[in-house]
Amino acid sequence: MRKTINIVITSAATLLLGLGVLLNAPAAQAGGQAPDTKTCTDKENPPKDVVTQGGCIVIERTKGNCMACHQIPGVTSGDIATKFENMAQRWPDKAKLRAQIWDASKANPHTVMPPFGRHQILSADEIDKVVEFVLSL
Ligand code: HEC
Repeated sequence: MRKTINIVITSAATLLLGLGVLLNAPAAQAGGQAPDTKTCTDKENPPKDVVTQGGCIVIERTKGNCMACHQIPGVTSGDIATKFENMAQRWPDKAKLRAQIWDASKANPHTVMPPFGRHQILSADEIDKVVEFVLSL
């Protein structure tokens, strides 16, 4: 009997936890795509979650400007580089993805992709946020 009660309590807790995660999802951003500029430039209520913050760095022309080359859902993009899709599957090792963004010339000395970390185009903290956003695509 005790076991059954425990199971019931655990299931209820899991359900509540799941609900909490759902309710906490950022409202302004549809999943799997770039945030809109309005969300990014809202000074009164700046985005608080790292995925949206990373997305804002990615689409900011003076920051990542990744869409100049990459195709990114939700923003007008160039197509001289890859499309950001299935990123979590394609990059199971977060450190490797970070290294690619930090200095793409490590993997390919002839790449046109700017070495965002090595040239201090983005700070370490900004690159961490960019990684979180990229992995959400
Ligand atoms: C000037 C063009 C350019 C810009 C800007 C650029 N990239 Fe790239 N990127 C490339 C090219 C070209 C490749 C293909 C690989 C190579 O050249 O070695 C690439 C490859 C990648 C890859 C590996 C391929 C893939 O789809 O998984 C990732 C991840 C990546 N870029 C992330 C970024 C991020 C994040 C930004 C912005 C912070 C960015 N890139 C900005 C040109 C660019």
